[in-house]
Amino acid sequence: MTWVLILNGPNLNLLGTRKPETYGRTTLADVEKMCREEAGKLRLEVTFRQSNHEGRLIDWIHECGAAVKAGESIGAVFNPGAFTHTSVALHDAVEGASVPLIELHISNVHQREEFRHHSYISPVARGIIVGFGVAGYVLALHGLHQLARAG
Ligand code: DQA
Repeated sequence: MTWVLILNGPNLNLLGTRKPETYGRTTLADVEKMCREEAGKLRLEVTFRQSNHEGRLIDWIHECGAAVKAGESIGAVFNPGAFTHTSVALHDAVEGASVPLIELHISNVHQREEFRHHSYISPVARGIIVGFGVAGYVLALHGLHQLARAG
């Protein structure tokens, strides 16, 4: 079955307990379950990953790029966490591996501190979902699926 990578960056392992007023009380395990259920309806398999380490995220993006080329994956939904605002390396990974990717943020980063307003990922993302809470993961999944169908 074709798979989709759902990738989470630093501190997202703390989802549910970290700043619940901003990120809610749903855990990452709950998000994974939600994504698997929704992806099943779209006949997609989910590879769900989280890391606090930039290099690890880069390796998984490369892996996804190779799978997209082989026709095995439609791409990735990526919440890069704070690396959004700092990582040229992740920008280059997405671009270099040609991964169709939806950038996702649980919170509306544009309503928050100025340093969260700039993203290194947005210029290489096919689409962006911001501020819908964890429901954004499902929206991003549908968005990526739609883009893949459109070719
Ligand atoms: C986040 C927003 C980032 O600014 C922050 O560093 C995160 C989470 C979000 O999902 O809203 O870790 O990506």
